[in-house]
Amino acid sequence: MDNFWLKIKHPILALAPMAGITDSAYRQICRRYGADVVYSEMASVSALYFHPVKYFSITKNNFVNQNLLNRVKPQKTLELVKFEKAERPYVVQLFGKEPAHFAKATKIISEKVKPDGIDINFGCPAKKVFSHGSGCALMMQKELAREIISAVCENTKLPVSIKIRAGVKDATALEFVKYTADIPYSTIMIHGRTYEGGFSGPLDFKLVEKIKKMFPDKIVLANGGINSAEDGVKILKDHPPLDGLGIARGAWGRPWIFDEIKDLLKNNVGVQFIEPENNNGFDKSNPYDFNRVKKIMLLHAKLIHKDKGQHGLFEIRKHMSWYVKGFPGASELRRKLVMAKSIEEIKEILS
Ligand SMILES: Cc1cc2nc3c(=O)[nH]c(=O)nc-3n(C[C@H](O)[C@H](O)[C@H](O)COP(=O)(O)O)c2cc1C
Repeated sequence: MDNFWLKIKHPILALAPMAGITDSAYRQICRRYGADVVYSEMASVSALYFHPVKYFSITKNNFVNQNLLNRVKPQKTLELVKFEKAERPYVVQLFGKEPAHFAKATKIISEKVKPDGIDINFGCPAKKVFSHGSGCALMMQKELAREIISAVCENTKLPVSIKIRAGVKDATALEFVKYTADIPYSTIMIHGRTYEGGFSGPLDFKLVEKIKKMFPDKIVLANGGINSAEDGVKILKDHPPLDGLGIARGAWGRPWIFDEIKDLLKNNVGVQFIEPENNNGFDKSNPYDFNRVKKIMLLHAKLIHKDKGQHGLFEIRKHMSWYVKGFPGASELRRKLVMAKSIEEIKEILS
């Protein structure tokens, strides 16, 4: 098995999966500014099992900031997870609850999409997903979770990862990993909050550290609440055995947070970061001033337009709002940008 996880220099900085956000254009931008690996939006195994080429929407659930998702257009499931070479290493995340659906979906993704890895969602607390018995509801059904992980591992040569929470009701992440660790999955991203903690509750990285120490052969990434380079470096320093970090909302409007973490690690703190050999030829200079941010905004707009056409310019509005946050004249700029109907108009507004 060609396991890309083992080839990434530590610490591994991953763009965590986000439905309605981590599309191909955004993943390309995050890779360009330092993410070592990027995850897709979650894709339904049942949709892949029954109708891989039919339209399916996963965005009408109750994630935080639902209003920011901007009514993302339903997409064919296979289209949802397609990607560009520049995104590699790229991981497709699957969610569902039927082992047979996971088995078939894994085959379809491995053969037709050909990503670098497959991830299983055991962390989603959204009502629609949880009440269906998928996402983090599966942390309470360890036997079924075992069947699911085995079904995925047995149907692909790609490395398999799982994404879990610190706990759900009485079920803990430690118990979950103890119960499943003999299955040959490679990587665990652990959101340090419990199901009850939602998206803003307390984070338990001591638990994440304990899991890494008990299962040193698994690659363990800590996720949750990393909103600045300092946050990321602090977690790595305080919990040295961890292999890396998963960043979600901290990369909103700030995809260069990955490069910022690497810079901070290189320049002044104890954890040593080693430059990856292959940075895909990207210019990784950090955009600390607004002129650079504007260039990234334009590039992001061009990439999403290329991928999704006119609808992409509608979807990019949320990103535009996040990019301008905190800069002088942000609200005026935001107002103009969300009205823009073409790349030329965006260019004009930004100039
Ligand atoms: C809008 C949104 C969509 C998300 N979609 C997914 C998803 O598809 N799969 C998943 O495992 N987690 C999903 N998450 C959870 C994130 O990957 C991450 O675990 C969580 O936001 C905590 O990290 P953060 O504090 O860096 O944002 C989503 C989070 C947000 C805010």
